[in-house]
Amino acid sequence: MHFPAPLKSNSLKMMLLGSGELGKEVAIEAQRLGVEVIAVDRYQNAPAHQVAHEAHVIDMQNSDEVLDLIRRVKPDYILPEIEAISIEALFTAEKEGFVVIPNAEAVNKTMNRKNIRKFAAEELGLKTSPYRFVSSFEDLEAAAEAIGYPCVIKPVMSSSGHGQSVAKSRDDLQSSWEMAKEARGDASELIVEGFVDFDYEITLLTVRNGKDTIFCEPIGHEQKDGDYIFSWQPAFMSPAAKQSAEEIAKKVTDGLGGRGVFGVELFVKGDEVYFSEVSPRPHDTGMVTLITQSQSEFALHVRAVLGLPLEFSFFTPGASAAYKAKKESVTPVLHAEDAVFASDSYLRVFGKPESHEGRRMAVLLTMAASESEALKKAKERIGYVDDFSNVTKVVETERIEESEDESCVIKKVFKFIFGK
Ligand SMILES: Nc1ncnc2c1ncn2[C@@H]1O[C@H](COP(=O)(O)OP(=O)(O)OP(=O)(O)O)[C@@H](O)[C@H]1O
Ligand SMILES: [Mg+2]
Repeated sequence: MHFPAPLKSNSLKMMLLGSGELGKEVAIEAQRLGVEVIAVDRYQNAPAHQVAHEAHVIDMQNSDEVLDLIRRVKPDYILPEIEAISIEALFTAEKEGFVVIPNAEAVNKTMNRKNIRKFAAEELGLKTSPYRFVSSFEDLEAAAEAIGYPCVIKPVMSSSGHGQSVAKSRDDLQSSWEMAKEARGDASELIVEGFVDFDYEITLLTVRNGKDTIFCEPIGHEQKDGDYIFSWQPAFMSPAAKQSAEEIAKKVTDGLGGRGVFGVELFVKGDEVYFSEVSPRPHDTGMVTLITQSQSEFALHVRAVLGLPLEFSFFTPGASAAYKAKKESVTPVLHAEDAVFASDSYLRVFGKPESHEGRRMAVLLTMAASESEALKKAKERIGYVDDFSNVTKVVETERIEESEDESCVIKKVFKFIFGK
């Protein structure tokens, strides 16, 4: 493969639609291969904006804005990093000859629980929890009665646990209904799923480069309020369960097609594996690969997009702990004890420009002889990270003054050089 230099007429351009912490790592890996990175998000100074060649702020749900930008930039590859993107724009871009990763239809299927569930269970015949789709409270009652309690209720379009709840009995249905309806995104339809009393759940990172499909070691994770807080790799699985997990992941990713990393989410009970959902992009629980693998899921994603070989080494068992902000701040400052920066652990700070309660701001990574030890360390050492910010309008003002000072200095230098 040829690697042209970035910022030239013949550069290879990768456009990230969504510039969060996962996109930031993808951008860095792309930069490492000389790829020109164009990072897009709906707010300024998003994490990947800060490490890209070009940064854009647009309304990504607005089809015209997304298409305009694509047509202007003419990227070789378009990488959707989040679900809240105008799918219409992706379909049109693909029709116009742009390459969407993995492809617009896969993004369309996976952004809607109804599409992906019907595809996995009904077309591919994969084992899933029992499910029904409902649009009215009466239908919800009927579906919950038919499926039985406890059941899990989610808007068909939502992520990170938004609007999701578990109903233990009929009495809970009203609050589940309200919770789903209040969530942002499209809650006009809900999925009611039978609760899978799994032994553990995993993400199986599955990577396709157009020739081969490879699997990373399974990643175990712990969720709180529908969001991941700890992950570890490798997650122990019986050989039968592991084989079945890989078969499911292969089927579903073959079905979706295209190139890139897929995070296949599975529930495991004994040797039985249930398909839950799949992200056609790197997965948050997969941040653990930043410490466990010679090529992280982000590096593998870039390689897969470019059609490069997917060989890598598994270095060490490891774990990750997400750090979530406890405070609101427009000048967020994290504090980490020195103990976090050890021979067997480190912290990655995402650099998000604002914090609010529960927003993921950093990830702590640990390694050890076993994943359980690594997880123990991650749980312990995440306690050494804290919000340091006191909400500081004052500091914000000082910073503006400082930057004015800086621009004054620059102006003076210009005056000195150009006499203007
Ligand atoms: N049917 C179910 N049975 C048991 N647990 C479930 C079920 N559905 C969801 N969960 C639990 O809730 C978590 C989040 O669910 P799911 O992955 O469907 O939501 P999400 O909003 O897409 O989350 P994310 O965006 O973080 O992946 C799962 O990882 C699992 O722990
Ligand atoms: Mg999930």
